[in-house]
Amino acid sequence: MMIDYYSPTAEFYDLLGGQHWAHSDPALASVLADVDTGHGPVLDLGAGTGRATELIARTLPEARILAVEPSPGMRAALTSRAVRDEDLRERVTVVAARAQDVELPERLSAAVICGVLGYLDRAERADLWRRITERLPTGAPIVVELMAVSEPQTVAPVRIARQRLGDQEYEAWMSGKPCGVEQMRWSATWRVLRGGETVREVDVTHDWYTFGLDDLAAETGLTAKQVTPELGVLIG
Ligand SMILES: C[S@@+](CC[C@H](N)C(=O)[O-])C[C@H]1O[C@@H](n2cnc3c(N)ncnc32)[C@H](O)[C@@H]1O
Repeated sequence: MMIDYYSPTAEFYDLLGGQHWAHSDPALASVLADVDTGHGPVLDLGAGTGRATELIARTLPEARILAVEPSPGMRAALTSRAVRDEDLRERVTVVAARAQDVELPERLSAAVICGVLGYLDRAERADLWRRITERLPTGAPIVVELMAVSEPQTVAPVRIARQRLGDQEYEAWMSGKPCGVEQMRWSATWRVLRGGETVREVDVTHDWYTFGLDDLAAETGLTAKQVTPELGVLIG
């Protein structure tokens, strides 16, 4: 069973993700630039509102894209993004499933896994790696977003983003603490302010299995390369 941490805060996702993506998107595009898209679709696992989906489409104009997203709230934004663009409408297939259960096509050209892997424990990740790697050709990348924290630790509350929309300011805050040998409990607060006063606040807590690029290299047996502090690539 999946707990949908994302629908209650889906409205904030594109609003407050922009600064992070402005930094990470060029690196993601450069890793994908040489992908041979003739082997099958590019998998965007846990596609969220579709920002990476769109980036994959812009970077690889011939690619078909399989965007897998279990959260109804996030999927609504993803579908909305895909359908309003004639090109995306042709090439993006949206599937409502979790990484653990999604039925994958016979072949894939590449995989992008941003902000998702920590929702899977080691055994689930092992199964996912097997299912993905047996579908990829030699040399195809699995791009993985790395989190700032690769082992459980305490993280004091920090504001990670701020954005104005109309008459209101929006803020995202995060804090974290260990909640198991390989797990963190993250608390996120999304705040809407008007004239400096908080008018609405949404709090979400979610558990995350920590991992580092070395863990992923060991789990997959693939060659791992750190592209930026936030992005790693696994190549077989
Ligand atoms: C931090 S967001 C990242 C969204 C997108 N990949 C991006 O980078 O903008 C994490 C996404 O993973 C999805 N998710 C959570 N658990 C998942 C699972 N078990 N399998 C696939 N996706 C999952 C959430 O619904 C959410 O949309």
